[in-house]
Amino acid sequence: MNFFEILESRGLAPVVKLKSSSSALPLAEALLAGGLPVAEITFRTDAAEESIRLISREYSEMLVGAGTVVNLEQAKRAIGAGAKFLVSPGYNQKVVEYAIEAGIPVLPGCCTPTEILSAMEMGLNVVKFFPANVFGGLNTIKTYASVFPSIRFMPTGGVGIDNLLEYLAHPAVIAVGGSWMVKDSYIDEGNFGKITELTRQAVKAIANIRK
Ligand code: 3PG
Repeated sequence: MNFFEILESRGLAPVVKLKSSSSALPLAEALLAGGLPVAEITFRTDAAEESIRLISREYSEMLVGAGTVVNLEQAKRAIGAGAKFLVSPGYNQKVVEYAIEAGIPVLPGCCTPTEILSAMEMGLNVVKFFPANVFGGLNTIKTYASVFPSIRFMPTGGVGIDNLLEYLAHPAVIAVGGSWMVKDSYIDEGNFGKITELTRQAVKAIANIRK
């Protein structure tokens, strides 16, 4: 399976913020124990690069990518550390070009038709839709799906256990992104059991419609 097939079959990319790379392996283990070998480690902290390196070395079964990649320098560091995909909150031409050249899947954040056109111009057919809850959620995706039938979306922002199935039921939604199962507070408290529990709950819900 290629990256996008795996992403679709899993249906969910946890959006993770790690203050310290010492949390990286316990976080990966918690997600794996919950049945979800996917993690988007965000470049919102200095620990991102090292965390991606540690997880990709230790858990080859884990699809570990970089999130909140906002510039070329971060894209280079992420890929150098072993990121298997890049996600950005917005559309950055340099990041997109670099990822394509490196052969690494990239999901730029697109929430306007113009941004979607930029992604299409680069040959992309999957984008992050962020912040989904602010930009009209599923209603906007439905509209875009009729205008851009070749494009699929990963809505992120305000997605949780109560609305993820609604999003995933739409064929234009490849997967959702979210942080509810990997909240900062759980990581700070070392409450990895809670992460496993909430991950397992999501995986179970998704299994009803994705496999
Ligand atoms: C992101 O950047 O993808 C979001 O912060 C995730 O949104 P959420 O915290 O509402 O899940």
